[in-house]
Amino acid sequence: MAAPTSLPGLILAIVTAACFVHYSGAAGGEAHPDKYLGINYGRLGSNLPSVDQAVSLIAHSTTIRKVKIFDADPSVLRALANTSIEVTITFPDDLIYRTGRRALNAYRWIRSNVLPFVRSGTRVASICVGNEVLINVAASGKRVPSQLVPALYNLQSALQRYDLHGIQLSTPHALNVLNPSFPPSRGTFRKDLLPYLRPLLQFLNATGAPLMVNPYPYFAYRADPRGSPLDYATFKLRRGAGVRDNRTGLLYTNLLDAQVDTVYAAMDAIGFPNVRVVVTETGWPSGPESETGASPANAAAYNGGVVRHVRSMSGTPLRPKVPLEAYIFALFDENTKTGPESEHHYGIYRADMSVSYSIGVQTTPATPSPSSGSWCVAKADTGVPQLQAALDWACGPGKADCSAIQPGKACYVPNTVLAHSSYAFNNYYQLNGRQASDCVFGGTAIVTNTNPSYQGCAYPS
Ligand SMILES: *[C@@H]1O[C@H](CO)[C@@H](O)[C@H](O)[C@H]1NC(C)=O
Ligand SMILES: *[C@@H]1O[C@H](CO)[C@@H](O)[C@H](O)[C@H]1NC(C)=O
Ligand SMILES: *[C@@H]1O[C@H](CO)[C@@H](O)[C@H](O)[C@H]1NC(C)=O
Repeated sequence: MAAPTSLPGLILAIVTAACFVHYSGAAGGEAHPDKYLGINYGRLGSNLPSVDQAVSLIAHSTTIRKVKIFDADPSVLRALANTSIEVTITFPDDLIYRTGRRALNAYRWIRSNVLPFVRSGTRVASICVGNEVLINVAASGKRVPSQLVPALYNLQSALQRYDLHGIQLSTPHALNVLNPSFPPSRGTFRKDLLPYLRPLLQFLNATGAPLMVNPYPYFAYRADPRGSPLDYATFKLRRGAGVRDNRTGLLYTNLLDAQVDTVYAAMDAIGFPNVRVVVTETGWPSGPESETGASPANAAAYNGGVVRHVRSMSGTPLRPKVPLEAYIFALFDENTKTGPESEHHYGIYRADMSVSYSIGVQTTPATPSPSSGSWCVAKADTGVPQLQAALDWACGPGKADCSAIQPGKACYVPNTVLAHSSYAFNNYYQLNGRQASDCVFGGTAIVTNTNPSYQGCAYPS
């Protein structure tokens, strides 16, 4: 289609870009770890894999090495200990008020929720203090936003007190902290939020932490498919096409860049040109087809475009030298999120850990090296019926020992065909002397030298 020359829909885009509050986050691969790419590992699902399975999935089957979570759950922090994955945790909204009022509360929280985990090997990179709290003023009243920056200062003192100097503090924003505007260079913050945003930016400028924002071009597209064309929203414009900002002359080849630069322009407008923006959430739903634009192809195009952009190490048109850093939403489909059905379909993996669609971060297990251990596991992208047939064969005629994957036994959870197949395939493979020819199962299995064991479930080797 012809490149759009003006996009009135962008105005609406900014307003609608973050109507739904997300709670979630994750990322990781040894060969080519992604430096600026992360993933949100949310856990609002009734059928999700265990925390250990999820961490193992990120560590062994993706190139992502940055995970963001929506709380500071000890089980997640423990599972991430001594891995190559760093984590961004979230300080709860409902503790902000009292933490702003009393420094002691900040010390207590850091001492019990951060310090012990850092000491036992968890790499905590940053702390999100609340999630989109400024736009929730209506819900929370003025109490919480007024204590947001005081809470940041108190938490900063607490980090210093416990020698946790490397950890950054910030707070994610929905894009509707901005006024509706077009083009990007005209971006401004909402006037009613300036009393909170100015001191926040002072804090970020002084500490070197980034401004965190959650832009969703999908919401702009859904609200106005003509104003924000699909190709523009999903990184599919042909080379050289785009939307020109008529004030700066800069060409926008995708809507995400336009949204991020609207934030940069808003910071410039109030005198903070040196604070970096980090995209703490962005994503696109893979279904249901009944909702505008929600499809696996569009989700793969959008998220794949984000991955390519981040890997290019280029910035946005207004900040070409500041590499874009982004956390994709999300690791898994989450079936208990509220909102339209599409809210259940943001995962790059389904809840059974199969690949929902590929965006260039999901890897196959490493090639085996003869000198180290080797295991046989199910391929993550195999269809369930095919895996089930292979599983039945392994535990039946194949005589693999499948006792550990029976209900109540050590490897029963996660109760997925993928996890059970991996266990059974490996058992058969070890039993038969680790011949590559014993790790085929109709093409559903692959040899790996990464130990697939997880907490409580040891894979024989
Ligand atoms: C991580 O490794 C260190 C050093 O080997 C060890 O002391 C610590 O207990 C480990 N952490 C966990 C959670 O296992
Ligand atoms: C931002 O920080 C720099 C370096 O510390 C300082 O010189 C500058 O005045 C700060 N800007 C604002 C607007 O506070
Ligand atoms: C730029 O485009 C906007 C929106 O289409 C328009 O309102 C404005 O007048 C234009 N500005 C210039 C300098 O052409």
